[in-house]
Amino acid sequence: MVLEQFKIVQMKITNICCIGAGYVGGPTMTVIAQKCPHIKVTVVDLNEDRIAKWNDANVDNIPVYEPGLGAIVAEARGRNLFFSTQVDKAIDEAQLIFISVNTPTKTYGSGKGMAADLKYIELCARQIARVSTTDKIVVEKSTLPVRTAQAIKNILENTGNGVQFQILSNPEFLAEGTAVEDLLSPDRVLIGGDTTPEGQKAIQSLVDIYANWVSKDRILTTNVWSSELSKLIANAFLAQRVSSINAVSELCEKTGANVNEVAKAIGMDSRIGSKFLKASVGFGGSCFQKDILNLVYISKSFGLNEVADYWEQVIIMNDHQKRRFSRKIVSTLYNTIADKKIAFLGWAFKKDTNDTRESAAIYVADDLINEQANIAVYDPKVKYNQVINDLNYLETRLDQENKNHITSYNDPYEACYNAHAIAVLTEWDEFKEYDWEKIYDAMLKPAFVFDGRNLLDGEKMKAIGFHYQTIGS
Ligand SMILES: NC(=O)c1ccc[n+]([C@@H]2O[C@H](COP(=O)([O-])OP(=O)(O)OC[C@H]3O[C@@H](n4cnc5c(N)ncnc54)[C@H](O)[C@@H]3O)[C@@H](O)[C@H]2O)c1
Repeated sequence: MVLEQFKIVQMKITNICCIGAGYVGGPTMTVIAQKCPHIKVTVVDLNEDRIAKWNDANVDNIPVYEPGLGAIVAEARGRNLFFSTQVDKAIDEAQLIFISVNTPTKTYGSGKGMAADLKYIELCARQIARVSTTDKIVVEKSTLPVRTAQAIKNILENTGNGVQFQILSNPEFLAEGTAVEDLLSPDRVLIGGDTTPEGQKAIQSLVDIYANWVSKDRILTTNVWSSELSKLIANAFLAQRVSSINAVSELCEKTGANVNEVAKAIGMDSRIGSKFLKASVGFGGSCFQKDILNLVYISKSFGLNEVADYWEQVIIMNDHQKRRFSRKIVSTLYNTIADKKIAFLGWAFKKDTNDTRESAAIYVADDLINEQANIAVYDPKVKYNQVINDLNYLETRLDQENKNHITSYNDPYEACYNAHAIAVLTEWDEFKEYDWEKIYDAMLKPAFVFDGRNLLDGEKMKAIGFHYQTIGS
């Protein structure tokens, strides 16, 4: 009987819906639509403004900036890729539904500041249950605590219309800034599902979609729990490497060693590898911190306090690295930055994205505003309103007080004009190409540059006359 029913979900998928048109849902579905022209892909979101931007005739205005994304949206949109606010309709019509909504750290109640807030996930599950009139495969694309699939299954089975649901976990490993590249040639695609025959068939349906462009040996299938946990662990390992090299950077500054040299020397060891060993002002982004906190919370809830403490240290180190950077600016500028103009080059959490969530720039700015500095921001993809929103989100001070201390510029030379110091917060390539002599001439002297990304050519900067400081040397 069960197998009989399951024939429906095993049929060839021709209609997909994705709930959540954000940094993951938008790019991921765009690439699926490009590679699978036989599948209709509808990306839905409650946020009308976001959907309107995805539908903007000029693809330069889509809400997610990723190199190469606009061209693929232009190719597939209106053909088999659609962006819509009609969530119910898209759910009902789809055979397979990706849930790609946000799962931020909880800001209230039990687990506040640590656990993942699953309210958006639960709302999606209830909506899918309410609307569905045919069998569906529901795919967790969002990053979720291990065993969330069980909760989704309970909701679907207890509140649904008697239709059959299979739950798969298919976490996304793309990195912002290289999302298109990562989606076109992923290191691996991970799909977790039930070990039952029905679960295996659902897995196969999703494998068949990815197999349109990903070779089979890169499509890994596991049980649901391994898949859910692997995503949290991948982020924890990556963030741990950044915190490890950042911890070394402080030691380098005290000992005369150079963190770039140390990173190169250890990174050439094939057991260690060179990636994610770049010292910086600290990692940001929407995922690392929230996913590690989530891992810490899960560990604590199982009474595994040592495991929790081990991972929490990755976050503690990262907070320290941001604080250390702002303290260095203050102490170098003669212990007072009140009313001094500090130019920020970069606000996004990394280059090639307009995402600013958890960006180190926010925390450094917050510290410097506490010291009454005036901050002049230039970022090629981030505008004034976003900068103010990010600072207001911290709730350190009133909106107007943040506005009193922040200006933003469309021109980097204007941002640096008459500045006492420049802080490089994002590793945008264009910063390397600037006319640094011109910037130097227009700054107050002594002219300081604090390179939080070890991006610029130190010898050249010093030859021009800058007091140039990096991380870890
Ligand atoms: N950003 C990344 O680099 C990245 C990488 C891998 C995985 N992830 C994970 O993917 C998930 C999504 O992340 P994101 O960065 O795309 O988030 P995002 O905030 O950019 O997008 C989420 C979208 O979901 C929408 N949404 C929320 N509830 C909804 C509902 N009930 N119905 C319709 N739309 C709804 C929101 O309006 C928002 O536009 C998270 O779990 C995240 O951890 C993110």
